[in-house]
Amino acid sequence: MTLDPYKIREDFPILKRRINGNPLIYFDNAATSQKPRQVIEAIVDFYENHNANVHRAVHTLSQEASELYEDAHEEVAKFINAKGIEETVFVRGTTEAINLVAYSWGRRNLKRGDEVLVSLMEHHSNIVPWEIISGIRGSKVKYVEVDDDGALNYNALEDLISSKTRIVCISHVSNVTGIVNDIKRVAKTAHDYDALILVDGAQSVPHMPIDASDLDVDFLAFSGHKMLAPTGIGVLYGKRELLEQMEPFQGGGEMIREVNFDRKAKSCSIVWNSLPWKFEAGTPHISGGVGLMEAARYLKRVGMDRVKKHEEMLTGYAMRRMRECCKSIRIFGPEDPSAKCGIIPFGVEGLSSHDVALFLDNYGILVRSGYHCAQPLHERLQLSSSARASFYIYNTLEEVDRFTEVLKETEQL
Ligand SMILES: Cc1ncc(COP(=O)(O)O)c(C=O)c1O
Repeated sequence: MTLDPYKIREDFPILKRRINGNPLIYFDNAATSQKPRQVIEAIVDFYENHNANVHRAVHTLSQEASELYEDAHEEVAKFINAKGIEETVFVRGTTEAINLVAYSWGRRNLKRGDEVLVSLMEHHSNIVPWEIISGIRGSKVKYVEVDDDGALNYNALEDLISSKTRIVCISHVSNVTGIVNDIKRVAKTAHDYDALILVDGAQSVPHMPIDASDLDVDFLAFSGHKMLAPTGIGVLYGKRELLEQMEPFQGGGEMIREVNFDRKAKSCSIVWNSLPWKFEAGTPHISGGVGLMEAARYLKRVGMDRVKKHEEMLTGYAMRRMRECCKSIRIFGPEDPSAKCGIIPFGVEGLSSHDVALFLDNYGILVRSGYHCAQPLHERLQLSSSARASFYIYNTLEEVDRFTEVLKETEQL
């Protein structure tokens, strides 16, 4: 059975808003999703009834907060089929998860002569940390080409990978074109060369069933705010044996088991905490974790297969309607909607992407415009920028119809 977006919409208070006198049509889900009442209420309930710091005090509230925060790790581990909470580190988001691996793993394991492979379709957050750590460690970042429609060129990957490659960093779904990469194939290629694979799952985990164990990825990074949870909470999945070998990213409270001061040596010897806490220095975003747990439960109830199917249906329909509605619209990326997931980059001849987004905003339709933090991909596709419509579980065919009707009006400009 397909999901019912009208029933789902009842859970999202913000969707009742009007923008410039029009009903809100929110097509900027790749940037961040809206939040259902259940998530908002879970956060309010946490602050009204359970708020305390975690893993510190013996009192009742601290016990309750700790239990909720640990439950949140359990729920997330189940959501992506990790082997346990040891494999799910809570961070601020995808960006912090990738930086954690770059600094913690990269600082110890990269050296002069080593190579890091990054695809040209990456979000800046899966490029910049690798350039920074390679600048420090003397390794080199090499870029895997994409085809003219933005699809990963698997031959280029196979040509570039070598015994010098230490890690392959790749997004599961491009945040510009929506192209879905064959992660199992990339993981096999990486592992054949004894390299690791880090997957940026920011645009996949919210939109399709993900089984991190089955994909056989070493690291998977994603953000809560793109999957119905609040901002400031995200996840680094890592294979347990790798996370165990890695040194902490940041130091402080929570991530240590013991700090012993040796009076003779006048220095401290430190024992790290167990996983995942070893990587969660300081007071964590507890209410964010609670919100993420509720978001994962919500998505599980909807069913990730149904989420994926709904977005595929909307994407196929929207691409067809956009092509029909006016000649001046160009859709970038692959022509075949089945190659992608819920994201449509486009342009209108004679208008900048910001002009298009502002025009649509007048009618209450919100899309993103610009580079979407993926400047190298825009340059490769010879685009100065793009507008981007991206869908989620509460979007409807009627909204797509309204979107294309309004787009048609750009012909009068
Ligand atoms: C593919 C991809 N990677 C990484 C990010 C960065 O996510 P965050 O800003 O939540 O850390 C985004 C956000 O748009 C994204 O789309």
